[in-house]
Formats: sequence, structure tokens, C-alpha cells
Amino acid sequence: KVIVLDFGAQYGQLIARRVRDLHVYSEIMPCDATAEEISAAGPSAIILSGGPASVNEEGAPRVDPKIYELGIPVLGFCYGHQITAVTLGGTVFHPEVGEYGRAELHVKADSKLFADTPANQTVWMSHFDAVNNVPEGFVVTASTDVCPVAAMENAERKIYTTQFHPEVKHTEYGQQLLKNFLFGICGLEANWSMDNLVETMTAQFREKVGDDRVILALSGGVDSSVVAALGARAVGKQMTCVFINHGLLRKGEPEQVEEVFTKQFDVDFIHVHAEDRYAELLAGVTEPEQKRRIIGTQFWKEFFAVAQQLETDGKPVKYLAQGTIYPDIIESGARKTGGKASTIKSHHNLIPFPDGVHFDLIEPLDHFFKDEVRALGLALGLPEHIVFRQPFPGPGLAIRIIGAVDKEKLEILKNADAIVREELDAYNQRLFEETGDRNSEHSCWQYFAVLPDIKSVGVMGDERTYQRPIILRAVESSDAMTADWAKLPYDVLARISGRIVAEVPGANRVCYDITSKPPATIEWE
Ligand code: XMP
Repeated sequence: KVIVLDFGAQYGQLIARRVRDLHVYSEIMPCDATAEEISAAGPSAIILSGGPASVNEEGAPRVDPKIYELGIPVLGFCYGHQITAVTLGGTVFHPEVGEYGRAELHVKADSKLFADTPANQTVWMSHFDAVNNVPEGFVVTASTDVCPVAAMENAERKIYTTQFHPEVKHTEYGQQLLKNFLFGICGLEANWSMDNLVETMTAQFREKVGDDRVILALSGGVDSSVVAALGARAVGKQMTCVFINHGLLRKGEPEQVEEVFTKQFDVDFIHVHAEDRYAELLAGVTEPEQKRRIIGTQFWKEFFAVAQQLETDGKPVKYLAQGTIYPDIIESGARKTGGKASTIKSHHNLIPFPDGVHFDLIEPLDHFFKDEVRALGLALGLPEHIVFRQPFPGPGLAIRIIGAVDKEKLEILKNADAIVREELDAYNQRLFEETGDRNSEHSCWQYFAVLPDIKSVGVMGDERTYQRPIILRAVESSDAMTADWAKLPYDVLARISGRIVAEVPGANRVCYDITSKPPATIEWE
């Protein structure tokens, strides 16, 4: 495997992804990991990421100099390039101009890293500081007009670094350079694949659980569904999937989840009908945070009640399975260490276990990125409507109904939302068929209806109406951190608007939210 040392919040993630794309397993470690810790992880290669700091500034992240003595090949990008230079005796200076964006790279030496790539190639740069003296034993292998040391190496010690970013798509031969390093220089094999993984993960799950009992809070989202499918394969009915229906799910969704996990997978499935309890708790509540708190607290109450109920047959529930994924861990680590990614226990710390309740955790997806989780889901036989489901907030439709939630509003929103999804699913599918890419430019990443707490006047037939407007929200995004409103074709917008006012009783107007995030958020509450 490959260890990526992360020199700044999440700079390492993209590199780890690129390595895995080449079917080599990679993991991220914080940049202050010691040579012993890294060596204990048993990597065949180490990659040093970029980062936002400047190597010459006080308090800038360092690297344990002993990592260069481990005899493990090292590759460094940007900050990783500069930190290698200064750690091994070279120097970095702060020139008058930085270099940002596309640059023309000139390869100047015969280097294994640049094998099968042309002498002049486009790379992506983003730096102010630059290496001006390379360490002893190093040669400069490439430069740009602005940057004399755009790549350097000590081939004997297998240390290769570049000022540019091979991990970004704008670097023309970036993936080839990574291949050259992993396969040509490190001699690794491309053997990380989903089919092998399903076998290994099933065996690991089974071994960990043994004869014990497992419980899972199944939301119907991608992550928990993949864990459920994996658990079904590994331990069958020893696992209980608890699906808590708070009545705030999208139209048809509870039925779909029940269908998949009762007919297709061999687990113990419990559908908790908590709709009435939630309706009562939420009656008259208008403040968004209060809604969220009520829904979250009740969720765990319902869940623990089921766990206790199960145990009345005398067999304890030993394990809680969770769909924690790699970014959850990286992000919670990054938060706790003030920006620097680090491996700290994930957000499960946030589960309010009642006094005296304890479960051991199983988090089989805790080293996977979202699209790997999707690939696993497909390999496990989950239907596409679950695997490619768009993100849906835990508090559900309650935070898409502005103001107090009631049955009537829920009904209007569910019906309008079903139309939005149907039309935009079809729109995305058309784009997918045209481009072969599920995330092609202009495809919508998340889309739904919102019900504001107002009414508007309209006219239908000869009748005056005084009903609800529906707000359409559709965004393009890759990670929900930022988003832009989707530039939907007018005919698609017209169809959605026409259908909603014609087919949804109680709705007489449709508005489109044309705000990006920031300054807005994707959800309305
Ligand atoms: P915002 O509204 O903050 O949402 O731009 C970013 C993404 O997170 C989803 N979201 C949630 N997901 N529990 C969740 O699991 C929540 O409470 C929650 N609130 C927002 C939202 O749908 C969007 O994809």
C-alpha cells in the first residue's frame, strides 16, 4: 500500500483517490506521523502532499527526516517538494512572482518519473515559494520558464518530487507520472479491485462478528445500505437492520427500502413506524435547529428502544454497525486538530449512548471514498436507485418545510418533490447517455422541492386560488461544500412547473432558487 502524508486539510485526499484509481491501495496519515509510525503501517511507497503553508514560516508543518532513510520510495508534490528540499539540505526562497494555473514544463533529464511522456508538457502549478538549491545528490529533472526546479530527484535513493500537482486533471500527464512512480519505480502491482474487496470485506466482517449479534441503523442512504448488504452477505440474520420511519422521508422511499431489505437481502429487518410520535413532537415547532434537535434525539430513543427489545430474548447485541466513510474520519480529524488532517475516531463519538448502553463498533467503510462505496454497493447487488441516491438530510422533509410541519404540508411537499425528482432524474439520465459520465458538466447533483410558509394568489380555470408556492432547488456540486444553482434548460423548468401546478393539489406556483452556496446553503433550513 501507499501512505499519503497530508500537509494540509484534505490536500492528501485527491492524491489517495488517484492512487486508488490505479488499483493500488492508499491511506492518508497526518504529516506529523513519525517514521516509526509510518514504517509500522508497512507502506511500499510514501507520497507527500501539497499544503497551504510556506515551508520557511515559523510553525510550518515538518516531516520526520527519518522517513527518507526508511528505504521506501518517496514522491512529493508542491509543499512535499519544498519540504523535501529543505529537510535534506536544499533551500526554498520567496520569489517576486508566484506561478498559478497552467504552465509549460520542460523535461531536462532522463528520468524514470517522466517515462513515456513528452519533453514539453502542460502541468498545473500553484505556488509562491520555490526551490532554488536542491539537496546534495539531487538533480533537477524539469523546469518551467518561471520555476527553475519544477522537478528534482535522487534516483539512487528513490526520492522524486515535483513543484506542480500531478494529481489534478489539468496536469496533462499527471496520471502517467503516478503510474511511472507506482509501477515503474516502486514495482507495485495493480490489485486493488472491488470484486476482491467484497470477498475480503465479507470475510473480515464475519470474523469480527463471530456468533454475536449486530445492529444497524438503516436510513436507506447509500452508506448504511452498503453496510446492510455487506452484513447480509457476511452474517445474515445475525444482523438486525432498524429502519426508523419518522414520516419525513420522500414519497415512496420507505416502501422501497423495505422491499430491498426484506426481499433481496437476508437480514432481520425492522420497520419502526414512528410517524405519529414525530408528528406530535414536531407540532408547532418552527425554529430549524429545534426541529433538528427533536428529530435527532428521538431517532436514538427509537433506536435504543429496539435494541433493548431485541435483547429480551437473552442474547445481547454486541456490535453497532455504522456507515462511517473515509471523508467522515478525515474531516472530523481535520476539525479537531485545527486544519491538519489526522486519524481521530470519527463522528460516532457524537452518538448519545444512554447510560449503561455499550456497543462495539463495526465500520467496514471507514477507509472508502464515496464513489468506492457506490462501486461496492453495485458489486454487492444493491439496486441503482439506492447506490446513486442523492444526499438526503437526516431530518428529512422537516427542514424543507419552512415553519411548522403538519400532515397537509408534508403531503403537498412529497407530491411536488416526487415530480421534481422524476423530471430531473430523467434529465440527468439524458446527460449520462450523451456523455457517458454521471457527473458531467451541468448534471444536477442534488434537487428537491421546498415548501415556504406563505400562500400566494393564483387563478385556475375561472377560480381564484390561494395556495402554496413550491420552491425548486437544484444544484451542481461535487462535495456539498460549495454549490451552484443548476442552469437547467427552460423546457425542463417549464415542464416541472406545469406538472406541479397541474398535478399537486394545494400548489399554485413554482419558483426557482437561483442562489449559490455560499452565500446560501443547499437546504433552506
Ligand atoms: P447545506 O444545506 O448545509 O447542506 O448546504 C450540505 C449537504 O448536507 C446535507 N444535509 C444534511 N445531511 N444530515 C445529513 O445527513 C443533516 O442534518 C443535513 N443537513 C444538510 C444537504 O442535503 C446537502 O447535501
